[in-house]
Amino acid sequence: MVASDGARVLVASNRGPVSYSLREDGTLESRRGGGGLVSGLSAIGPDTDAVWVCAALGEGDRAAVLRTPERSGRLAAEDTGDQRVRMLDIPADTFASAYNGIANSVLWFVHHLLFQTPLEPVFDEDFREQWAAYVAYNSAFADALAEEAGEGAAVLVQDYHLTLVPQLLRSRRPDLRIGHFSHTPWAPPEYFRLLPDDVAAEVLTGVLGADRAAFLTRRWAEAFAACCSDVLGATVSRDDGVLTVTYQGRTTRIGVHGLGADADFLRERAHRPDVEERLAVLREAVGGPDRKVIVRVDRTELSKNIVRGLLSYAQLLRDRPEWQGRVVHVAFAYPSRTDLAIYREYTDEVSDLAEEINEEFGTPGWEPVILHVKDDFARSLAAYRLADVALVNPIRDGMNLVAKEIPVVTDDGVALVLSREAGAYEELGDDAFVVNPYDILATARALHQALSVSHGERAEATKRLAAAATALPPHQWFLDQLRALD
Ligand code: F6P
Repeated sequence: MVASDGARVLVASNRGPVSYSLREDGTLESRRGGGGLVSGLSAIGPDTDAVWVCAALGEGDRAAVLRTPERSGRLAAEDTGDQRVRMLDIPADTFASAYNGIANSVLWFVHHLLFQTPLEPVFDEDFREQWAAYVAYNSAFADALAEEAGEGAAVLVQDYHLTLVPQLLRSRRPDLRIGHFSHTPWAPPEYFRLLPDDVAAEVLTGVLGADRAAFLTRRWAEAFAACCSDVLGATVSRDDGVLTVTYQGRTTRIGVHGLGADADFLRERAHRPDVEERLAVLREAVGGPDRKVIVRVDRTELSKNIVRGLLSYAQLLRDRPEWQGRVVHVAFAYPSRTDLAIYREYTDEVSDLAEEINEEFGTPGWEPVILHVKDDFARSLAAYRLADVALVNPIRDGMNLVAKEIPVVTDDGVALVLSREAGAYEELGDDAFVVNPYDILATARALHQALSVSHGERAEATKRLAAAATALPPHQWFLDQLRALD
């Protein structure tokens, strides 16, 4: 049955716009998150009936759901900034298998080409149990969306956690208009086919349950279409430049929306007192205005290639000793998915390598690498302002917003060293020093060139980078997807 007061616009994502932690006295503290979806959803205005469906991620979130009236998961408006949010308390073991097991250890690895294939992946009975949990977790989302949506509502389903939702939801509510958006790259067919055949087919038919499947770049959209053709035998068409996939009598339109940086927000936020304070501390740590600064800011994900970034910096100091004492690498590697041992090990490797570089090259007045692993947004903005060079060298990345944010926030222009495997390369490649992320020697050379570029050239390139980076701000990105579903 369709609720008479059902929502007209719905967003579904694993991580919601608010999270809770339990204080020692048992009370709850709520924290609102940022990001493209939050600012996008706010763009549709308070008069539109919109609901955001998300999962309870931890103990605090679960406690919050238990405290909602009738355990409905409909969160209090004061916690969500008046946004209607329904948080799903999916059983903790189902959630862990779906999120850590399938989404982050299988699908993320597939789309970012991260497996060391002589030994992994291994699709055994444990995998099958986790896959069943992933199906259950996607079904819980489909059930909640079917309950919350008004007649003919638009539903925007986000990311690799929820690939099965479009089809599951369509079978429950054929009246809805459904979009799916992938924030990651999409694997090329020969790599996607590492997945067991039935699972590969289920993921693709799940997404094809949408009226429209959208991606951050043309490259990822084409890879998805190629997988549909190779794995399912679906028909791919490009009539009048519109990419479509037809499978079993239904046609899904394929779209591209290159999420851009939120210039107004970033520029205002980057000049608040807490950022100024951190800028002063960072300047002091760098030690002198004559020293150049190479900045990188990442969540410590395996795809970000932080280790090769540090190796390239060490190579630069070796190949070009004239930079010793004249450059500092400010590297922020913030915690991500720390439930997974391989992420924790990777973080340790980053810390060890930074230490080794400091031991090998450092002098009493010069610390070659300043590494921080504790998340601090204000400090990130301070580093953005200070950067002479931005190093963005992922193995593969859906977009990489840091590459777009630094040119917008920089005080004095920035030279961008950018991996050709980042989605942002499509829009920013012409004004960046482009690198193959596996090539340490070439990345070291690109760092040297970026450090050596003239002030004037750097300023001109930064203007063009900032213009390209802000072409599609989050609110427009969101509205475009909504309009395209009409
Ligand atoms: O950075 C890409 C991304 O897939 C985003 O789309 C998504 O919001 C995020 O990673 C998921 O990260 P987490 O596992 O921390 O929720």
